[in-house]
Amino acid sequence: MTVNEYKRRRRQLMRMMGPESIAILPTAPVAKRNRDVDYHFRPDSDFYYMTGFPEPEAVAVLIPDRKHAEYVLFCRERDPEREMWDGARAGQEGAAEIYGADDSFPIGDLDDILPRMLEQCQRVFYAMGCNPDLDKRMSEWINSIRNKSRTGVTGPLEFIAVDHYLHDMRLYKSRSEIKTMRTAAKISADAHKRAMQLCSPGVKEWQVEAEFNHACQMKGARFQAYSPIVGGGANGCVLHYIENQDELRDGDLLLVDAGCEYGYYASDITRTYPVNGKFSDEQKALYQLVLKAQEAAIEKVRPGNHWNDPHDAAVKVITKGLIDLGLLKGRLPSLIKSEAYKKFYMHRTCHWLGMDVHDVGDYKVDGAWRLLEPGMVLTVEPGIYIPSGSKGVAKKWWNIGIRIEDDVVVTKDGRDVLSKDAPKAVDEIEALMAR
Ligand code: GLY
Ligand code: MN
Ligand code: MN
Repeated sequence: MTVNEYKRRRRQLMRMMGPESIAILPTAPVAKRNRDVDYHFRPDSDFYYMTGFPEPEAVAVLIPDRKHAEYVLFCRERDPEREMWDGARAGQEGAAEIYGADDSFPIGDLDDILPRMLEQCQRVFYAMGCNPDLDKRMSEWINSIRNKSRTGVTGPLEFIAVDHYLHDMRLYKSRSEIKTMRTAAKISADAHKRAMQLCSPGVKEWQVEAEFNHACQMKGARFQAYSPIVGGGANGCVLHYIENQDELRDGDLLLVDAGCEYGYYASDITRTYPVNGKFSDEQKALYQLVLKAQEAAIEKVRPGNHWNDPHDAAVKVITKGLIDLGLLKGRLPSLIKSEAYKKFYMHRTCHWLGMDVHDVGDYKVDGAWRLLEPGMVLTVEPGIYIPSGSKGVAKKWWNIGIRIEDDVVVTKDGRDVLSKDAPKAVDEIEALMAR
């Protein structure tokens, strides 16, 4: 992303804010793992989307029409001693020169400077409840302004959820965002191929995870967008299984839900395949059904269709297929209406995808499902899960957990599947695994 793209985004938000307003956007806090060890710092997605600023301890302030400076970045000061340990800091000069801030102050001066900026504004655009530390300081600042009322200071009258505005902007991906997401999906798709080739009876789930991570990291994607789910057999029926601690067994399926983060954008791909490289009859029957449901759902991704159309399509195919296989009994319309399929398919088909794996953006507008528009990116991920002991289900179906998940961008005339390089047809998978 270029400096100009961030600038464009700030302008867009400031246009929506209007005069006499201020937006306050903090980055994420550093998270402690244990004692002296922190998690690797990941900037807050909203903050990074507006600034491109990667360092911790930073707050961006936007004040439209302010003569002296519209975009002010509070960040860490240069500090040769600390930089020797932790690496270079942009400092106030870098904030302006590299990141395009009109002005910059040390983050330690926030309490002195921000209340004076707030005083001048009527409306505060701020995401309340997302950053407890800043929330507390915000109420202190506001109270200190109230205490000055007898001197004629009025201060802000309205608080507005800035996240709502930002999240709508983030929902529509620019050309460069889609390019980055395509790269993320390509890296993950190739990593899924590597995982398929490593998979065989006796291999451990964590070894498959290691292979996947390695393939991503070798392409420059150092972090995963979420903890990989690598579940053999019964573990594949646990929707968010992340222990990845068991040995893969001959005759089981393996479900791998994994996607790297690249350039701060997520990919999210699931593939399911036989541990021994060959689907059994029951596995194949259910797999083909999930695949058919996924293809029907992907087909529904196009401008003008609404958010729930892909889900409706997947539910219809899955319910019909489960009737044909004898796993559900009754008539299609009434089984759909009573949500009988939820016994085997208990999650939804899609979610937005972007800087966050479950990305931001409203799914409904004025009470109605949102219409799909070019530039929106979503996953399509139906599944069927039959844990052992499932009541009224013949034993031959037990411990089959299947999900197939792709990343799809809505285009002008339909869709583009960003993750298409990860094989999903039965013969493609069997051929790759036989090699
Ligand atoms: N990997 C989480 C999800 O598929 O939603
Ligand atoms: Mn997903
Ligand atoms: Mn997933």
